[in-house]
Amino acid sequence: MKNIRNFSIIAHIDHGKSTLSDRLIQSSKIISDRDFKDQILDTMDIERERGITIKSQTVCLPYKSKDGKTYDLNLIDTPGHVDFTYEVSRALASCEGALLLVDASQGVEAQTLANLYLALEHNLEIIPVINKIDLPSADIDRVKDQIEEDLGLDPETAILVSAKEGLGIDDVMEATVRMLPPPVGDAAAPLEALIFDSHYDPFRGTIVHFRIKQGTIRAGDRIRFMSNNATYKVEEVGVFQIVRVPKKELCAGEVGYMIAGIKTVSDTRCGDTVTDHRRPCSKPLPGFKEAKPVVFSSIYPVASDGYEDLVVAMEKLKLNDASLIYEKDSSAALGFGFRCGFLGLLHLEVVQERLEREYDLSLILTAPSVRYRLIMNDGDELIIDNPALYPDPTNIEYAMEPFIKAAIIVPDRYMGAVMKLCLERRGINKNYQYLTNNRLEMIFELPLGEVIYDFYDRLKSITQGYGSFDYELIEYRRTDLVKLDFLINGERVDALSMLIHRDNAVARARVACSKLKDEIPRQMFKIAIQGAIGGNIISRSTVSAFRKDVTAKCYGGDISRKRKLLEKQKKGKKRMKMVGQVMLPQSAFLAVLKTD
Ligand code: GTP
Repeated sequence: MKNIRNFSIIAHIDHGKSTLSDRLIQSSKIISDRDFKDQILDTMDIERERGITIKSQTVCLPYKSKDGKTYDLNLIDTPGHVDFTYEVSRALASCEGALLLVDASQGVEAQTLANLYLALEHNLEIIPVINKIDLPSADIDRVKDQIEEDLGLDPETAILVSAKEGLGIDDVMEATVRMLPPPVGDAAAPLEALIFDSHYDPFRGTIVHFRIKQGTIRAGDRIRFMSNNATYKVEEVGVFQIVRVPKKELCAGEVGYMIAGIKTVSDTRCGDTVTDHRRPCSKPLPGFKEAKPVVFSSIYPVASDGYEDLVVAMEKLKLNDASLIYEKDSSAALGFGFRCGFLGLLHLEVVQERLEREYDLSLILTAPSVRYRLIMNDGDELIIDNPALYPDPTNIEYAMEPFIKAAIIVPDRYMGAVMKLCLERRGINKNYQYLTNNRLEMIFELPLGEVIYDFYDRLKSITQGYGSFDYELIEYRRTDLVKLDFLINGERVDALSMLIHRDNAVARARVACSKLKDEIPRQMFKIAIQGAIGGNIISRSTVSAFRKDVTAKCYGGDISRKRKLLEKQKKGKKRMKMVGQVMLPQSAFLAVLKTD
C-alpha cells in the first residue's frame, strides 16, 4: 500500500487537464506510442470535438521513482465543467491528493477555486501545477502570486509544466510520489469500497469503478450494495490501464473495477458503498452529493414515425448515463416524446448531440425549464417542470423557484458589464472582493431559470472571454410566475410554451414572435404568430403569404433537374412539423429559446 498514490487532476476548463493526463499515460509506457491517440481519456466523440471531459475514466500508471522503487499512480480523471461538479466530488473522495492545474497565461479562474474548495473538503493534499509555460503570454510570476494570495497554497511547491511540449512531466510524477500520502486501510478488515463511477459494456454489463477503502475483494465473492441491499456475485476485478487488466484481488487503498453481472448503470448508485455480503462493514462510507437534475426539457422526434427509434436510443443512452432521467411525454403539436431531466444545459446539449449523431435522429427540444414549486390555494404543493402541466393560475396561491449562488471572476474593468448582466437576470449582488492582479470575485444570487438559457455565453462575450463562472443551488424563493403561450394562426402550440417571470414575459414574447417570423417559411396563406398569457395577447407578428415554386427557375426541359429540386425540397420538409395547417421548421423551436 505504501507504493500506491491515488490522485486527480483538477482545473478550470481548458487549462490542459486532458493534455497532461495524456502525457502522464504516455510517459508510463502502458501503451505504445503507435497506439497512442491524443487525449486518450476523452473517448467519446463529442468530448473530443468539443474538447471537454464529461465521463471520468481512471488509469493505473506504473512509475519508477528516483528512490528506485516502482509505484502505482492511480489517476482518476474528473470532468471540468460546472454541470458535472458532482462527478468531480465523487472522484475526489477516492483520492488522497490532487494536482491543481493552472494555465500560465489565464491564471486562477472560478472553477479553479471551486475545485480547490471541493478538494479541501475531502482533506486532499494539493500540488499546484502551472501549465502552458511554453506560451509567449505565460506569466509565471503572476500565477505564482495568485497561487499564494488567492488559493493560499505555497507557490514554491508549484511545478512548471508544458503538457503540450512534454516539459516537466517527470517532475509531476515524482512530486506525486513525494508529496502525496499513501492510502491507509486494512486489507483484513470487512470490505468497504466506494463507487465513484460506472459505465456500460455491451458484453459484460455494468463495469463498476471503485476505490477499496478497507478489506479485500476477489472474483467469486458475494457482495452487497449498501443503499439497496442488492447482492451480486463478483465475476472479475481488475485495474484500468486504458484496457481492463484483470487481477486476482484488489485490496484496501487500490482503485479498480468490478464486473458482477449487473445489467444497467442505473442499478448502481454512485456514492454507494460495496461491502461483503457475509461479513458486512458496520456503516456505509460518508455520502456523496447525489446527481440531481435541474434542467428539464421534452424531446420529440421530428418525423412522426420516429418515436420507436427514439425509445430505443433513449434506452441505450440511459445504460451509460445514469444521470439522465426521462419519462414518457406527449404533445398535441408534436406527438409522443420524452420529458427529460438534465444536470445542466451542457448535459442537455450533449444528450441531444449524442441522440442526433449516434442514433441518427432528428429531434425537437422544447424550452428548457427549472423545477418550480407551486403552493396551491388549498395548501397543497405541486412541483412542476413542464409548462404543459401548469394548472389554472387562479388556483395557485404563489410559486417558488430555485436560486443559485454564483461566483464570477473577472478583471475589474468588466465589473459594470457583469453587474448589468446579472441585474437583468434578476440577480442580487451579495458581495465582491479583490483577488490579485486587479481581478474581482463577484458573488450573486440568481434565479436558476435565468441562467439556464444563454447566461454563460453572454458572460463570455461581455468579458471578451475573461469571465469565469461557477454556481451551486441554494434555496427556493417566492416568484411571480406566468405561463407564456404561443399561438400560430390562433392555435396554441403546446411545445412552444414556457414558464417565466412576469416581468420578462412581454420582452420574451416580442423577441420570440419576431424570431418565429424569421424561421417560419412563407406559405400560401398569411400566418399570424401571437404570444399570450392566458387570454391576453401580449405580442404578435405575421408571416405574409407567398407561393413558393422551387421549379420555377428551371424553365422548360430538364426533368431530372426538376426532380432533384423537388427532392431537395422534400428533404427540407422532413425537418418540418405540421402544426394545424402550418409547417414549423425544427429551427422555430430553437428560436424561441434565444433571448436576444
Ligand atoms: P476539459 O477536458 O474541458 O476540462 O479541458 P482540459 O482542461 O482537459 O483542457 P485540454 O487538455 O483539452 O486543453 C485545452 C487546450 O489547451 C487544448 O487546445 C490544448 O492543446 C491546449 N494545451 C494544453 N496544454 C498546453 C500547453 O502546455 N501549452 C499550450 N500552448 N497549450 C496547451
